[in-house]
Amino acid sequence: MPPSRWLDLIGKVAIITGASRGIGRAIAFNLASRGCSILGTCTGDRGVQSLSSGLNDEITTHVFEATSRERPASLHIKGLVANIFSPDCASTIAKEVRDSFHGRVDIFVNSASDTMPGVIGDMGTDEVQRSLLANIQTPVMIVEELVRRRYFQPDSRIIYISSIRSRQPWSDQLMYAAGKSAGESLCRTWAQAFGGKDKRYSFMAGTTANAVTVGLTETEAVVNCGPEAVKRFQDEFFPVQSIPRFGQAEDVADVVGLLCGRDARWITGCVISASGGGIKIG
Ligand SMILES: NC(=O)c1ccc[n+]([C@@H]2O[C@H](COP(=O)([O-])OP(=O)(O)OC[C@H]3O[C@@H](n4cnc5c(N)ncnc54)[C@H](OP(=O)(O)O)[C@@H]3O)[C@@H](O)[C@H]2O)c1
Repeated sequence: MPPSRWLDLIGKVAIITGASRGIGRAIAFNLASRGCSILGTCTGDRGVQSLSSGLNDEITTHVFEATSRERPASLHIKGLVANIFSPDCASTIAKEVRDSFHGRVDIFVNSASDTMPGVIGDMGTDEVQRSLLANIQTPVMIVEELVRRRYFQPDSRIIYISSIRSRQPWSDQLMYAAGKSAGESLCRTWAQAFGGKDKRYSFMAGTTANAVTVGLTETEAVVNCGPEAVKRFQDEFFPVQSIPRFGQAEDVADVVGLLCGRDARWITGCVISASGGGIKIG
């Protein structure tokens, strides 16, 4: 049974990319269980179903009925196909926010990413550009749309899901690591712009922007690499972790959840490590 959480996010709206499975879905569960409405993105109908009906039912049954609490009337969960490789991804999301969530965004979590590229000596410009599009251009354009339309609210939260690979590199993930490092840098600049000093963004003053750098986590993205690769990852990461076990999606989601709460209002422009000590920052 999931923990009974304080309903501190009632009336708020979160956009989470890649929310139908893995870490993104666990983040969606964490926030929705606190009363936050969710617009979760994915690549196809299956993912839409898993959010619009699956997560909706799960929240009703396992969070509200199980604790005999009333489900907040404002709580709305919706899945949306918005492929991060599509140049229309940002505008598709923004239109859905306008049509289904009254043009309001309090939390943006960028979790979807292009995970594999690329092998050094084996890349073409297509692969390099695809990686830049998915891991840098699309998240930038989503924030651009939400700022331009003034959908962000005061004290909003922007969280970019980064990776341990930005600091512990692997030669088969050159562009992935570069994209994640860029995401961390974007957060520092967004933090500086949106905090309240710059009048152009005063409508969203108090907004924080942070990256969460994630360690080895047991999701399909990792498990589907096969037992040999999983063993190789475990042999690489467990010895450097302080807590030597596979991270679970909920371990990461709970860290992101902390950053989304009011108590995290003074944390901005940071990279937070959610890796069981696999990466020690500070
Ligand atoms: N797992 C780890 O060990 C680990 C470590 C470090 C960092 N991370 C980071 O954590 C984040 C989540 O990873 P995960 O392990 O949870 O991945 P995952 O289990 O593979 O989840 C992928 C999610 O992203 C969506 N997605 C995939 N391709 C997409 C696309 N082209 N456009 C839009 N959505 C797309 C999927 O939607 P569908 O259901 O429609 O496919 C699904 O909701 C990523 O940014 C990853 O780099 C993970």
